[in-house]
Amino acid sequence: MPALRMPQARVLAWGLMPTPARIHVAHALHEVFGEGGRVPDIWDRDLGEDAHLAQALLGLCLRRWGRLQAWVKPQLKDPDRGVPLGTRVVLAMGLTQLAWLPGVSDHAAVNESVELAANRDLGFLPHKGLVNALLRRAAKDRATLAAELEALPAALDRSPAAERALRAALAPHQAEAEIEALWSRLQQVPRPDFRLLKGEAPAGLRPEADLPGCLCLEEGAPFPRPWLESAGGMVQDRSSQALLAYAWDRPVPRILDACAAPGGKTTTLALRHPGAAITALEVHPRRAARLRQSLLQRGIEAQVIQADAAEWLEGSEAAFDLILLDAPCSGSGTLQKHPEWPWLKHEDLPRLTGLQRRLLGAAADRLAPGGLLIYAVCSWLPEEGDSHRAWLEQARPDLRPAEVWPAALGPAEGAVGEATARFRPHPLRWAGEGFQGFAVRRAGS
Ligand SMILES: C[S@@+](CC[C@H](N)C(=O)[O-])C[C@H]1O[C@@H](n2cnc3c(N)ncnc32)[C@H](O)[C@@H]1O
Repeated sequence: MPALRMPQARVLAWGLMPTPARIHVAHALHEVFGEGGRVPDIWDRDLGEDAHLAQALLGLCLRRWGRLQAWVKPQLKDPDRGVPLGTRVVLAMGLTQLAWLPGVSDHAAVNESVELAANRDLGFLPHKGLVNALLRRAAKDRATLAAELEALPAALDRSPAAERALRAALAPHQAEAEIEALWSRLQQVPRPDFRLLKGEAPAGLRPEADLPGCLCLEEGAPFPRPWLESAGGMVQDRSSQALLAYAWDRPVPRILDACAAPGGKTTTLALRHPGAAITALEVHPRRAARLRQSLLQRGIEAQVIQADAAEWLEGSEAAFDLILLDAPCSGSGTLQKHPEWPWLKHEDLPRLTGLQRRLLGAAADRLAPGGLLIYAVCSWLPEEGDSHRAWLEQARPDLRPAEVWPAALGPAEGAVGEATARFRPHPLRWAGEGFQGFAVRRAGS
C-alpha cells in the first residue's frame, strides 16, 4: 500500500469535522449501496492531494464491503436487526482505515468516523455511541483487525451479479480455484494502459512488448497528466488496443464508428486508416460534444453525428467498408476498474441486449460488399456477445466470420489455424479488461 499523505482534520469550535475526502467517500458509498448508482467519474475532482486518500478508502470499502459487514454483525447486540445504511457506511470507512491504511492515525480513523455517524445525511445519530465503542476497540489492535477481516471468505465481497460475471468470464469450465484466482486479480487496483498518439512517450511509461503502441505505467511512476493533456497519448485499455489490432489489409475508404464516445477507438481507427472518411455516431449530446472536442484536440478528422445509431442506420442508405460497433453494455468486464460494479442495479440488461441486437442488425445492413464489421462489448455475459454472434450467423447468411485476430485472443473452439473471428481473451491469461467480440465480412469485391 503506498504511503498516504494524511489530510488534516479540521478542528472547529464545536468539534472535529470529517475531511472533505471522507465526506466524498461517504456520499459515494451511499450512492452505490443506497441507490445502486455509479460513483461519478469526477467524484474526487476538488479534493486536491486528499484525492489519494479518498480513492484508496473508497476502493477498499467497495472491494471489501461484504467482509466488513460480516465482521461487524457479530459485534452487535442484536445481530439480526437491520443496521441503517448510515451506520454501515461509517463503520466500513472507519474499519478500513484502521485495518488497511496504516498512514491514518487511530485518532483520525475513529474520531472522524464518529463525527460522520452524527451527520444527518451520511450517518445515523443514534448509533454514534456504537460506532465510537466499536472502532475504539478495533483500534487497540489494528493488525488483529486486519487479520480477522482477511480471514473471512473473499466470496462475501461478491454480489450475485459479480458471481455471474465471474462464471461467465470462465465459462465453460469455471473451476472454483479459477473463480477465486480471477476474483483475486480483479480486486487489485488496476494500472492504466496508454496509447501513444504522437512524439515520444514520457519517462515512466514502458512499451508493451506484444502490443505495438501500447504503453504501461511503471511501478511508482506518476500519472502522465500533462502528456495526456497535450494529446501526446490517451488512456486506452490493452483489450481495446488488441481488439483494434485486427488483421485486415483491404482498403477501407468509408468507416463507421457506430457508438463512438469518448472516442478512443475512433482515434485509433483514424490512425490505422489515414485518409479514410470516418463517421462517428453518439446518442448522448454531452458525450457527443466531448467526442468532438477530443478528436479536435488530437487532430483527428471525423464527422461526428449526435444520433441514435439504430435510428440513423435504419434510415440511412450509406455503405461502409469498416464498421465498428462498440456497443453499450453492462460493463461486466470492467469490474476491476469499477469496484462498485457488483453492487449496481443491473435491471436494464434486457433493454441493453435488445438495443445491441437492433444495432447489430442495422449495422450489418450498412456493410458494403467486401466490408468488415466488428462487434464488441466490455462484458463477459454471453447474452451480450456470443448470443448475438449466433443470431447473426443464422439471420444473415451473407455474412461470414472474418478471422482477424491471433487465435490466442479467442476461445479455443473459435480458432481457424492461427487466427480467430472471435475476440475473447482468457481473463486469467490476459491482464486487460474483460471484452468479447466478433468479426464478420460481407462477400464481394
Ligand atoms: C462502449 S461505449 C463506446 C466507447 C468508445 N467506442 C471508445 O472506445 O471510446 C458505448 C457508447 O455508445 C453510446 N450509445 C449508447 N446507446 C447508443 C445509441 N443508441 N446510439 C449511439 N450511441 C449510443 C454510449 O453513450 C457510449 O458513449
